[in-house]
Amino acid sequence: MTDDQSAFAGRVTRMRDLLAANLYEDWPNLPVVGGEGTYLFGLDGRRYLDFVAGFAACNLGHRHPRVVAAAKAQMDRLIHGAIGLVVHDPILRLSEELGRITPGDLNAFFWGNSGTEAVEGALKLARYVTGRPAIVGLIGGFHGRSFGSTSVTASNAKYRRHYEPLLPSIYHVPFPYCFRCPHRTGPGCCGDPLASLDRLFRYIVDPSEIAAVIVEPILGEAGYVVPPPEFLPGLREVCSRHGILLIFDEIQTGFGRTGAMFASETFGVTPDILALSKSIASGFPLSAVAASPALMQRWGPGSHGTTFGGNPVSCAAAIATLEVFREEGVLENTRARGEEAMVRLDELARRSPFIGDVRGKGLMIGLEFVDPAADGAPNGVAVRSVLEGCLRRGLLLYPAGQSGHVLRLTPPLTVSRGELDEGLSILSEVVAAL
Ligand SMILES: Cc1ncc(COP(=O)(O)O)c(C=O)c1O
Repeated sequence: MTDDQSAFAGRVTRMRDLLAANLYEDWPNLPVVGGEGTYLFGLDGRRYLDFVAGFAACNLGHRHPRVVAAAKAQMDRLIHGAIGLVVHDPILRLSEELGRITPGDLNAFFWGNSGTEAVEGALKLARYVTGRPAIVGLIGGFHGRSFGSTSVTASNAKYRRHYEPLLPSIYHVPFPYCFRCPHRTGPGCCGDPLASLDRLFRYIVDPSEIAAVIVEPILGEAGYVVPPPEFLPGLREVCSRHGILLIFDEIQTGFGRTGAMFASETFGVTPDILALSKSIASGFPLSAVAASPALMQRWGPGSHGTTFGGNPVSCAAAIATLEVFREEGVLENTRARGEEAMVRLDELARRSPFIGDVRGKGLMIGLEFVDPAADGAPNGVAVRSVLEGCLRRGLLLYPAGQSGHVLRLTPPLTVSRGELDEGLSILSEVVAAL
């Protein structure tokens, strides 16, 4: 170990004095000294296969050379600009290039730094332009940690506990979670989730009071839940009929994760507002609210703003990220590796009584663990044991789901066939030993 690494190891032992409990108590807090591609390098001298990719923020893997070069070049020109005070080319060029690939005419942007800021911006935009007070979220949705985004979050009560009262006039309706649906017997699955929206309109809040519905097209934090194909088109139709803006939170599903640039494309639905972050700048902090120019022009001067949002270095990294997507076959790799992973994981599920469901799109895959001795109840204990077993063997994974009962796989979209095979082999051995 170098002197620096010994000092780091010493500080790891004092982490509890240095960080808030909500940071140091997360799992596994693996001390790392670097990363490259699909690998993280541990302070313990080991190499770890990273199938979490910084919570899906490093879709091109760690330190993609073209992203690093673009960021370094930008750092030699301008690091901070404060948009409004000045305007720099990276933010305009990125807006132009991103606007070419966003769904529909969602090609005007407000730029922020993090996912939660994108959600705050989307909610504020919706209220501002509609003049309506209410927002509807979906049970299972996770949207961030600031007050507005926490108010629409309903993936786990722990995110809201001790923070009430949250924003008023927020309502939640069920998201179709087919695997745990009491009606899971055939057609009519999930008991027609749009019917609960209709009940909300009739019994609780008139649709003319609702500014927006916010939804993750595929639930992330709540367990990688893919809705039936008719759900999002149905939601789109209801929103359009009542003049309600439809917000897609594609902070996790966005940027290629599902094998398409945006998950909305895979459902054939264009929202009115799109919230993006995580991997858009391959690990540099950046987020965006996208909407049509017509809508954005109504979000008047002084109504919202940012000091760091749209940072030039992050924008340069995002432009390079788009180039890599265009030129290096990232989406093709995502689809191919995703299909291979699904075949292997379906086989694994057939062999293991602990895996109840394998689901996902592209390389956004969840394995739902069940307790065969308790009528298939969610089995967070099994997931924890698998996570720890995998980590011991050099594979980093992370849980999802209300009780940590879903194992999520989000390797970099650039993962090679060999790396995927290595990771899935480790996972299979660990599951077999359960
Ligand atoms: C769907 C979704 N929305 C919002 C957020 C919040 O993003 P951030 O942690 O950057 O604020 C996350 C983060 O996990 C997310 O997955």
